[in-house]
Amino acid sequence: MRLNQCHNFHDFRRLARQRLPGPIFDYIDGGADDECSQRRNSRSFEDCDLVPNVLRGVREIDLSVTVMGQKLATPFYCSPTALQRLFHYQGERAVAAAAAKLGTLFGVSSLGTVSLEELRKTHDTPQIYQFYFHRDRGLNRAMMQRAKEAGVEVMMLTVDSITGGNRERDLRTGFSIPFRLTPAGMLQFAIKPMWGLQYVTHERFKLPQLEDHVDMSGGAMSIGRYFTDMLDPSMNWDDVAEMVQSWNGPFCLKGIISVEDARRAADIGCAGIILSNHGGRQLDGSRAPFDHLAEVVDAVGDRIDVMMDGGIQRGTHILKALSLGAKAVGLGRYYLYPLAAAGQPGVERALGLLRTELERDMKLMGCTSISQLSRENLRFR
Ligand code: LAC
Repeated sequence: MRLNQCHNFHDFRRLARQRLPGPIFDYIDGGADDECSQRRNSRSFEDCDLVPNVLRGVREIDLSVTVMGQKLATPFYCSPTALQRLFHYQGERAVAAAAAKLGTLFGVSSLGTVSLEELRKTHDTPQIYQFYFHRDRGLNRAMMQRAKEAGVEVMMLTVDSITGGNRERDLRTGFSIPFRLTPAGMLQFAIKPMWGLQYVTHERFKLPQLEDHVDMSGGAMSIGRYFTDMLDPSMNWDDVAEMVQSWNGPFCLKGIISVEDARRAADIGCAGIILSNHGGRQLDGSRAPFDHLAEVVDAVGDRIDVMMDGGIQRGTHILKALSLGAKAVGLGRYYLYPLAAAGQPGVERALGLLRTELERDMKLMGCTSISQLSRENLRFR
């Protein structure tokens, strides 16, 4: 299978599976516990039907939106994800370049493998910096300061990872940083030598957002252990309110599900919230964002920008989320598989296909701009 044979999410996933060592593929592909939330995230869209209108003159389609004060050419963006240079040596450089070409926002993770400063200097589309609330308050302040100085537009705090999710695939393979593989995991690397060759012939793996603060050399750090040992489980609304104040710019919370939390986010001055269950990687059984979107939009949609992520694989999924009232949607695995499979050309192809799909879907719905999408065009089964 080759890149030009990839036409959708499933094709990119298949190609990534062919090219990546099993433990890395499983880290991207897997979720928590029984992976119920992860499956539901995509399936939730199938319980909702579209009711198109016809004969509306749909020659020109405008996909642009404004979220948290940022103008985006498409209503989808690349959510921040960790460890991208482990998936493909170009990592965040490829994702940011593809997002910038499309004119949309990209996120840089605390666990990113390219510095937020480098990415900010290279591209001029809006950038989100995603961070976790560490036990070390000095580290939290330093991270915000750094992002501010670099010119990052939007600050995003992830709030659904107060402890590590139970990723059993990673337990089986021994996925951690640096690698501490089980024998079965090691075998998986041995049978994918191309990945190893790329990995050792490119820039050494590092976590530039964290390296001054966290010593990753003294033993394997699983993602679960990072969450559990490094992050502050006492984090509460007062702490976050203080951060929103000190950031003094658009601030959003990623990983909200309940209406009560959505209201509190609006109360403390957040510009946006991202309804998310972390791609089903944290609390398994947590409600799918699309299932819960209408409730949250009805409660706070007039005070704050509501976005969602989780399970988006198709233009019609985006269409449905926007029709319910989301201002934009985030992609995670959707761009990670093509990144792993083919680097920047892979991400560009995947994002381009999604834009083409969405444009086609808008035409078939009889809509020329995102503001024309509404609940009138949806029916739930
Ligand atoms: C994960 C974190 C790092 O889901 O976002 O693996």
